[in-house]
Amino acid sequence: MLSYRHAYHAGNFADVMKHVVLTSILTYLVRKDAALCYLDTHAGAGAYDLRSDKARKTGESGLGIEKIIDANGAPTCIANYLQLVRGFNTAGVLDRYPGSPWFAAQLLRQQDRLVLCELHNSDFPLLEQLFAKDKRVHCHAVDGYRFSLGLIPPIERRGLVLIDPAYELADETMTAFKTLAKLHRRFAGGTFSLWYPILDEHQGFALRQQFEASQMRDVLHLALRIADRNSLPGMYGSGMIIVNPPWTLRAEMQIALPWLVSQLGVNSRAGCEIEQWVEE
Ligand SMILES: C[S@@+](CC[C@H](N)C(=O)[O-])C[C@H]1O[C@@H](n2cnc3c(N)ncnc32)[C@H](O)[C@@H]1O
Repeated sequence: MLSYRHAYHAGNFADVMKHVVLTSILTYLVRKDAALCYLDTHAGAGAYDLRSDKARKTGESGLGIEKIIDANGAPTCIANYLQLVRGFNTAGVLDRYPGSPWFAAQLLRQQDRLVLCELHNSDFPLLEQLFAKDKRVHCHAVDGYRFSLGLIPPIERRGLVLIDPAYELADETMTAFKTLAKLHRRFAGGTFSLWYPILDEHQGFALRQQFEASQMRDVLHLALRIADRNSLPGMYGSGMIIVNPPWTLRAEMQIALPWLVSQLGVNSRAGCEIEQWVEE
């Protein structure tokens, strides 16, 4: 039984970082006309009400999107992301926050395809309803780890896979890594992105060792910390690992992540990392 609901966390600092990276990657991929496939193994509900009891209970968007929605002088990739979030709301009021599938659906074209996996029996119907009229979108109430293996390589032979787990299960970091490695074996030219929460320094270190020992090349690691471990309960940072990133991503993040630190950091221990874990 899954208990994680993204509605409690939508628009938090980790979502901001994740969706800035996601929109930057997709903006690059759509520069070529050729069709592409976007696969979201853990799609969530696709849209969230920031005024709901769930969102209010944690108030997490207050340390995330609410801090930057009206900011001036954001780097281009963040300004583009903020424009999408504003477009999802009406009358200049931040009431709602979109999920990863919605960002992807905005940026992808008619020729592209979106495959969304979501296992939660409350969130899946919301996801399905959100995209009911969009023929490019295929929603599946399945285990994204297992189902994705049958979908890759995509017929388009171009695409992005986002693995964004809830990390509820024991050893889910390894499950996510192993799934990514299997998908990469089937589709070595694809772009893959894995999100993980920074709760201590060990998880990133363990993941780095796994990637370094794997067959995968061109692995970029991005991390954003809004504080240090002792200053915040639970998650104090957000990490993303991108395999075969667009060549533009590293330079974009060298500007974007320090800006996010300056806006979202809650103390002087906030910081970021942009590091090539494995060379091309
Ligand atoms: C972090 S949330 C996803 C957020 C979403 N990607 C976004 O950025 O808006 C993780 C989601 O994965 C779902 N989930 C958990 N285990 C799953 C599995 N094995 N397969 C598919 N979905 C799963 C949870 O119900 C939850 O909605």
